[in-house]
Amino acid sequence: MEDVHKAVVEENLHSIFRVSESKSYYEVDDLYNYMEDVRKAVVNKNLRSIFKLLGNDNLRKLIIDENVYKLWPILSSYVDTQFTSAFKSFFINNTDIDNDCFSRGQLQSKLWLVDELKKCNVDLGTVFLCAGWYATIATMLFESDIKVDKVRSFDIDPSCIDIAETFNKPWFMETWRFKSITQDIMDIDYDTHKWQSWSNANNRMSRPITDTPDTIINTSCEHISDFAEWYAKIPDGKLVVLQSNNFFKVAEHVNCVNDIEEFKSQAPMSQVLYSGKLALPKYKRFMRIGYK
Ligand SMILES: C[S@@+](CC[C@H](N)C(=O)[O-])C[C@H]1O[C@@H](n2cnc3c(N)ncnc32)[C@H](O)[C@@H]1O
Repeated sequence: MEDVHKAVVEENLHSIFRVSESKSYYEVDDLYNYMEDVRKAVVNKNLRSIFKLLGNDNLRKLIIDENVYKLWPILSSYVDTQFTSAFKSFFINNTDIDNDCFSRGQLQSKLWLVDELKKCNVDLGTVFLCAGWYATIATMLFESDIKVDKVRSFDIDPSCIDIAETFNKPWFMETWRFKSITQDIMDIDYDTHKWQSWSNANNRMSRPITDTPDTIINTSCEHISDFAEWYAKIPDGKLVVLQSNNFFKVAEHVNCVNDIEEFKSQAPMSQVLYSGKLALPKYKRFMRIGYK
């Protein structure tokens, strides 16, 4: 690919011949056709020839024929993740989602969480994901080798349910190993919580389900106005994973912190496993992992 790129874009002769040498020819005609495509690619910058050389039919159909449906097999050939199926489903169903959930800053922050959590070598058990939004962090945890029993994602906004359950479809289908629930995180009992969820598909309320969280994750601490009151609800000894930021400019960010020290005083822990910051282009993200 690198050589084809150099051959076409930089008209680099060495690359042209390296590309030619990398092929084996059974027929003289094959070689002729191949060199003809190299010529058209290099001299005429002919897209069809470029894609023939690359040997990627799906890429050709995506770019030349503008066949958007080829994007999904292409993505799947590079990465094996539920995110690809989820985005395909959002595209097909015309689902309105906030694209910021996949912004570079959001992704880097969540990858950072997964990386640091891995180093802590902890078993998460039952996770309560608070103000969980679309629960993309749940997908990343399920797809990592971190041990997770189940995830309950609570968000006050009912529009999060379908999107979060699409992002986490395989685990949602696994008898609700993942479930998104519409609830204010101030109304949760962090010792033993009983919840029910309305199903649009079945047009009925689920039976009451009781869960006891082992781990409480909240990557939206900057959104929680009564943070002290919320944090006080978590029983001592629970594993907590918290993220906040200093992105004061966003109106919904009602609880930003200036630095990790301020975050530490907001969320004291009896045993700290990780405490640090991540510099992103527009703001800094802060994270604390430990036992309350
Ligand atoms: C835009 S998202 C969060 C972005 C955050 N950086 C993250 O990575 O998750 C903030 C979410 O917090 C939710 N939220 C805010 N206050 C809440 C509350 N008291 N209970 C439940 N959800 C809440 C909002 O509905 C929203 O979905």
